[in-house]
Amino acid sequence: MMYSKIIGTGGYLPEKILTNKDLEAMVDTSDEWIRTRTGIQQRHIAHKDQVASDLALYASQNAMQAAGVTQKDIDLIIVATTTPDMVFPSTACILQEKLGIDNCPAFDVQAVCSGFVYALATADMFVRSGKCRNALVVGSEIYSKILDWNDRSTCVLFGDGAGAVVLSQSEHPGILSTHLHASGSYSKVLSVPGSIGGGEIQGTPFINMDGNTVFKFAVKVLEEVVREAIAENNLQAADIDWLIPHQANIRIIKSTAKKLGIPMEKVVTAVNKHGNTSAASIPLALDMAVRDGRINSDQLVLLEGVGGGFTWGAALLRW
Ligand code: ACO
Repeated sequence: MMYSKIIGTGGYLPEKILTNKDLEAMVDTSDEWIRTRTGIQQRHIAHKDQVASDLALYASQNAMQAAGVTQKDIDLIIVATTTPDMVFPSTACILQEKLGIDNCPAFDVQAVCSGFVYALATADMFVRSGKCRNALVVGSEIYSKILDWNDRSTCVLFGDGAGAVVLSQSEHPGILSTHLHASGSYSKVLSVPGSIGGGEIQGTPFINMDGNTVFKFAVKVLEEVVREAIAENNLQAADIDWLIPHQANIRIIKSTAKKLGIPMEKVVTAVNKHGNTSAASIPLALDMAVRDGRINSDQLVLLEGVGGGFTWGAALLRW
């Protein structure tokens, strides 16, 4: 029996930091409102010339170094992103060229904030089936490009960043199970409805969100998908060593943990440091907890996320 296992993690946050105080000078908001409603204190903003593949490059190099692999070892690249460099080619193909990797499958996954879980689940199937040995799985986002900086209800929530893992063949698990869901009937609740047509942008190219509906839906489905993952592996919530949620809002994270009976000491949070980085948020939080020594060998780690679509999912790992 072949399994897949994460053998290295990496992350990258752009240099420029935008604090809540900075935002006070831009829109009618306050540090207090943002902190109490979301837990966010600051976010990182990419340089105007940077694209998602640039952020992905740094995160990938960190992950490959941690894994002890080089370009010749990588035989699959999947990038989860909602903010690709361009319409095509995929950000994964552009990243492949920047990394100096020649001739392996490379493609993007678009599942918004659940993108990393979707990409990891896809890579897991490639690795377990023997189709590839070392997959590079990346979440990279530049949400600052799709925010209306005059809309206080959305611009305070998001930030830019990238996270990556190397997922490799292993005789021992590794990824125990993955669980993916989507419901397109919620597509209008959270969207960037614009598109390109006839040489112009049609519709709005900025985030449109019904925050209250997102909040309630997120807490409901995140509890469900975590319970699904736990049940499939005949475990209890108490068995989970680390819950690594999508970092959208500290209140969503706390509500989900409370419903599951998982104490906050076992929950990795980074939303205060970089806001919601969409597909990058789970691998960034994972990388942080691996590098600071919290996550140790043989521990049970549960990744979960929800995002536009709606999409949602979880991955249970034995570290
Ligand atoms: N600063 C100050 N006031 C604000 C701001 C702001 N940045 N934004 C909105 N307000 C005001 C509103 O106008 C409203 O004023 P009113 O009462 O005079 O009409 C008041 O604050 C309350 O607004 P609500 O929307 O009810 O505030 P709520 O407590 O629901 O918090 C929030 C809003 C933070 C967006 C919350 O609904 C939320 O977190 N939802 C989840 C959204 C999310 O995480 N989206 C990310 C993408 S999806 C994902 O990653 C899961």
